[in-house]
Amino acid sequence: MDYKEMLKNARANLNGSCKVCKACNGIACAGEVPGMGGKGSGSSFIENFKSLEKIKLNMRVTHNVNNPDTSIELFGRKMEAPIFAAPVTGTTLNMGGKITEREYIEPVVKGCINSGIYAMVGDTAIDAFLIENLDVLKENNGDGIVFIKPWENEDIIKKIKLAEEAGAFAVGVDVDACGLVTLSMHGKTVEAKTIDKIKELKASTKLPFILKGIMTVEDALMAVEAGVDAIVVSNHGGRVLDCTPGSAEVLPKIVQAVKGKITILADGGIRTGVDVVKMIGLGADAVLIGRPFVTASFGGATDGVITYVEKLKSELSATMILTGCQTINDINEKVIF
Ligand SMILES: Cc1cc2nc3c(=O)[nH]c(=O)nc-3n(C[C@H](O)[C@H](O)[C@H](O)COP(=O)(O)O)c2cc1C
Repeated sequence: MDYKEMLKNARANLNGSCKVCKACNGIACAGEVPGMGGKGSGSSFIENFKSLEKIKLNMRVTHNVNNPDTSIELFGRKMEAPIFAAPVTGTTLNMGGKITEREYIEPVVKGCINSGIYAMVGDTAIDAFLIENLDVLKENNGDGIVFIKPWENEDIIKKIKLAEEAGAFAVGVDVDACGLVTLSMHGKTVEAKTIDKIKELKASTKLPFILKGIMTVEDALMAVEAGVDAIVVSNHGGRVLDCTPGSAEVLPKIVQAVKGKITILADGGIRTGVDVVKMIGLGADAVLIGRPFVTASFGGATDGVITYVEKLKSELSATMILTGCQTINDINEKVIF
């Protein structure tokens, strides 16, 4: 499918909730939460984009890398690229209401599988959305990861069991959603998690367990102490707290503290294969991409998602050639200028 055509369709289907800007940088949608933007001034979303934009790469052309291998293995799964579709939920609230949750998520799950990567699906105040997401995963062999909101542990553990039944290959909690008061309005409490509560969640499942929303060395060290399998360095796309730094800005310090002790994923403002190389160069093991998958699904359903992932893979491969990296493992701080 033609990429530009996809963007045009997405603009119409998003019904004004997202302008599908040339650069998805958080400026035009600042403050639009609910919506597709970043909270308050929008600066946390904007900083994600800016902090990544500031990173420059060392171009290398004297080497023998002409056909790089973009694949990785993570959580026991082989993937054609170190990229996940991030969990993004709430079509009715955030995405203009023209397309249902299932109409949006099914193409993301299927398109990712088709292109050799996996989607993560999320949870909201409305239980039915998680159930719908799990149904879609189940219909697709459970090929995906489930993120649950930081409800009280008892509720999370029940939902982890549902994710296991759907066949998900990893589960996590977006702990940074503990400040989303809109969630508490639906009669359930979200809460910040103590290390003991995190340990209880980790012990409740045999699946790899991931904490999403880590922005400091202190929280990353806590995750290691709690025995968690992976963290996502993320400020939730700038949607939970105004005025945080960009994730690319905090990533190197977190990497310095916990690399090798825990799998490090990262997201925020990643749009292209070049951005993927930057984040991995800064020390991430793999990345998540959020908003562009919404555009792809709204603009071209499964075909749109495949088109976007193939574009990412080809940019990733070209960038690996021009930075002299044969494998994803070869991408390290040496690629960063
Ligand atoms: C509309 C919207 C809904 C989101 N819903 C969730 C969610 O349900 N669970 C979650 O962990 N993260 C959620 N996120 C955050 C994303 O998973 C991801 O961290 C963020 O979008 C990454 O930034 P990017 O969109 O700039 O790539 C949401 C983001 C957006 C824009």
